[in-house]
Amino acid sequence: MITPILEVRDVSIRFGGVEALKHVSLQLLPGEVLALAGDNGAGKSTLIKIISGVYRADQGELLFDGAPLQLRDPQDARAQGIETIYQDLALADNLDVGSNIFLGREPTRRQLGFQVIDRPRMAQVAREVLKRLDIVIPERKLGGPVKMLSGGQRQAIAIGRAIYWNARVLVMDEPTAALGVPEQRKVMELITVLKAQGVSVLLISHNLHDIFAIADRIVVLRRGEVAGERQVQQTSGDEIVHLMVGDTYVSPE
Ligand SMILES: Nc1ncnc2c1ncn2[C@@H]1O[C@H](COP(=O)(O)OP(=O)(O)OP(=O)(O)O)[C@@H](O)[C@H]1O
Ligand SMILES: [Mg+2]
Repeated sequence: MITPILEVRDVSIRFGGVEALKHVSLQLLPGEVLALAGDNGAGKSTLIKIISGVYRADQGELLFDGAPLQLRDPQDARAQGIETIYQDLALADNLDVGSNIFLGREPTRRQLGFQVIDRPRMAQVAREVLKRLDIVIPERKLGGPVKMLSGGQRQAIAIGRAIYWNARVLVMDEPTAALGVPEQRKVMELITVLKAQGVSVLLISHNLHDIFAIADRIVVLRRGEVAGERQVQQTSGDEIVHLMVGDTYVSPE
């Protein structure tokens, strides 16, 4: 029996009158790409916010590599090797690429007796990370604010940050939703690279095509509950849609 790198056990959370998650359990295996599917409002983002330390579950527990995991905040999750790329990306728009890779974890060096932020080192790391991911960003744009970059480049920086900090689990909430087709492909390629490097990926996507192209397994959430779990090889888009929408589903035939 393989120990999951991450396990969610019987997690529930409510926001006022809304039960956003009800007794949700799932396991993410080492080197696995697990897709989290579900309709709008199913609870996908809420679940990953619990996994990344943004929300605390009302009930249930998380395990990391078999050991109980208590997360006080997102820094805690990152320190454990859980990096998250949110729906809204969470890059600091006005900072350059290097600053976005370090974001709160900046290296320092001594200069004239003072500790100063080591900007040349940050720029160097930015170049190395982008190179490792085969991402081309012109040198003149590297030092400028990341808001001047394309959606795909920004996504790549967020992925680069996760790699640089040796993520063991990468959580991605709709990584391709705002991207053009070539950039979507690139992000999908990057996920494949990560998987080959042994990183486990929890991927939220509305795009069944992406899910079938890249995931090993799919967990479907419906109204805060796990509606089903399938190996990609053993299911179809039709079956997943059925799990997502439940009895309201009408087959085209
Ligand atoms: N901070 C919050 N306060 C109150 N209700 C919330 C909060 N966050 C989420 N919810 C509610 O919890 C439910 C699940 O929301 P969540 O954002 O997790 O869905 P989702 O599956 O990510 O949807 P989408 O596909 O639209 O991103 C929804 O009913 C939502 O309105
Ligand atoms: Mg969401």
